[in-house]
Amino acid sequence: MAKYRSAIIACGTIGRVHARGWLDVPGQPTELAACADTHPDARREFGDFFGIPPEHRYADYREMLDKERPNFVDVCSWHRQHAEMTIAAAAPRPSSARIPWP
Ligand SMILES: NC(=O)c1ccc[n+]([C@@H]2O[C@H](COP(=O)([O-])OP(=O)(O)OC[C@H]3O[C@@H](n4cnc5c(N)ncnc54)[C@H](O)[C@@H]3O)[C@@H](O)[C@H]2O)c1
Repeated sequence: MAKYRSAIIACGTIGRVHARGWLDVPGQPTELAACADTHPDARREFGDFFGIPPEHRYADYREMLDKERPNFVDVCSWHRQHAEMTIAAAAPRPSSARIPWP
């Protein structure tokens, strides 16, 4: 069965809590597909622990959103960053535009 591809923004303490939560959902319908964090150690430790390959770890969450096209995004950053990250996650991606062309 196909799994939902999730992407985590911010790989700190609460990111780990959320990631474990997704993996504990019965039947594991969710795959941790990608992660983003500005700190390289946070990216490496989180990615290694949760088995996210290096090519799916990003310093720039916007780049992750554009490249990974996840089914959903889990914003685990500091509160003051939530608005800009949530708005970016909800924005239509250029490659997902469904604009009819004459
Ligand atoms: N830790 C808890 O038990 C807990 C519980 C409830 C709520 N919270 C809330 O969750 C939020 C995160 O807390 P935490 O404990 O995980 O913090 P944390 O410091 O452990 O992790 C935050 C991570 O965000 C990263 N980050 C910073 N700027 C970024 C950016 N632009 N893009 C991507 N990543 C970026 C940091 O490098 C860090 O790894 C806080 O607002 C906190 O109040 C935490």
